Amino acid sequence: MKKQWLQVATALIIGSTTLVNAEGYTQADRIADMQKMAQAMQDIQSGLLYNNLDIIKAGTKVLKDTIIKIRPIDEEVNNKDIYEKWLNNNLKMTNKIQKKIRNKAQTLEERFADGDAVQALQEYSKIIGQCMQCHVRLRKW
Ligand code: HEC
Repeated sequence: MKKQWLQVATALIIGSTTLVNAEGYTQADRIADMQKMAQAMQDIQSGLLYNNLDIIKAGTKVLKDTIIKIRPIDEEVNNKDIYEKWLNNNLKMTNKIQKKIRNKAQTLEERFADGDAVQALQEYSKIIGQCMQCHVRLRKW
């Protein structure tokens, strides 16, 4: 009996944490995250041009840590129609793009570390392509 209650309490705590995490992502937060990623991309570009692996690594780290935060903002979550659209189409798209950007950032770093700057640059442009894919599609939401 006691154990069951503990499980219920744990579930409640985990549940409410999830709820808290799902809220509080504002448009300002998302814009800040976007600007962070734009800066990271610039840093990566500098790293490529100045042939500096540390700068590239710093950039890909920020990029990988920030892209996973991108999601619908509170306003979209609270608007049933928009949120349904997010859940049906855009959340899937977002997850896919997030995964691709993280993978490509990892590959970029590895190729550059291996001395293949040309391949690293190709990964760079693929990442920008993913950013733009969301931006272009997003304008229709
Ligand atoms: C899943 C969708 C999505 C992806 C992926 C995405 N963005 Fe965005 N981006 C947005 C949205 C939505 C906005 C508009 C933010 C707002 O005004 O609420 C935006 C806006 C921006 C802005 C303008 C911010 C401002 O100051 O107004 C920049 C810069 C930006 N994104 C950079 C990037 C970069 C760089 C990447 C890729 C590494 C990227 N974005 C990937 C959805 C995305």
